[in-house]
Amino acid sequence: MEQNFEQAALALRAVLKERPQVGVILGSGLGGLADRLEAPVSLPYGQVPGMKASTAPGHAGRFVAGYLGGKYVLCMQGRLHFYEGHAMEDIVFPVRLMKCLGVETLIVTNACGAVNRDFAPGDLCLITDHINLLGTNPMIGPNRDEFGPRFFDMSEAYSPALRELALACGRELGIGLRQGVYLGYTGPSYETPAEIRAFRVLGADLVGMSTVPEVIAAHHCGLKTMAIGLVTNMAAGVTEKKLDEQEVIDTAAARALTLQALVEAVIERL
Ligand code: HPA
Repeated sequence: MEQNFEQAALALRAVLKERPQVGVILGSGLGGLADRLEAPVSLPYGQVPGMKASTAPGHAGRFVAGYLGGKYVLCMQGRLHFYEGHAMEDIVFPVRLMKCLGVETLIVTNACGAVNRDFAPGDLCLITDHINLLGTNPMIGPNRDEFGPRFFDMSEAYSPALRELALACGRELGIGLRQGVYLGYTGPSYETPAEIRAFRVLGADLVGMSTVPEVIAAHHCGLKTMAIGLVTNMAAGVTEKKLDEQEVIDTAAARALTLQALVEAVIERL
């Protein structure tokens, strides 16, 4: 069925105070940024026609809009993942919806594992590029020409200008930033040590279960996009330690405020 963005946009416009200029996708344990918005309004995904609900832990599953850094910002507090069983077109529905609402810049956050041995849990990493190992692509199917062309270049999907801006903000705030390639894998099982060794050979610095579909859809429809990964753990087999969801949640919680400060500074300087 062809997705209807008009109905969804109407539902959101009914609560929004003005056109949002910036969209932010808040990943696992990173939803706190939405609490910093001034004059907040929210709408659960379940009340947006055409939008699927998020079932992932640590994901509130709602849009929250408000003022931050002098801009009107629309946040997704929680996202949809492929491992939840959602169709790709449903995962990227909110990204396209943001475009329909007038968003120009999208900031994507995620919790991820470090494939690069030089990285450490707690590191913030500016994503420079990705490797799509989800086995599919959100743009498969009839092309919606109103969003973008059938075939499109992905060389600068992670905006070099926004990356420069984030690095400058990091320097100003004394927040060190790594830079690296994110490899998107389906989950929900974490990767095996052999997979992580293979991903390192492929050129991955980070591994996670999100971000790739959203960034493809965002770039397709011309959103300027930036993505930051919060390293919550070393990927499987990098150390002796087994992977544990609690470590992911705890590390995300410990570094959430730093990531928020960075995102807020970037928004202020847009
Ligand atoms: N692998 C995949 N997804 C993740 C990880 C990981 O190690 N950590 C947080 N999200």
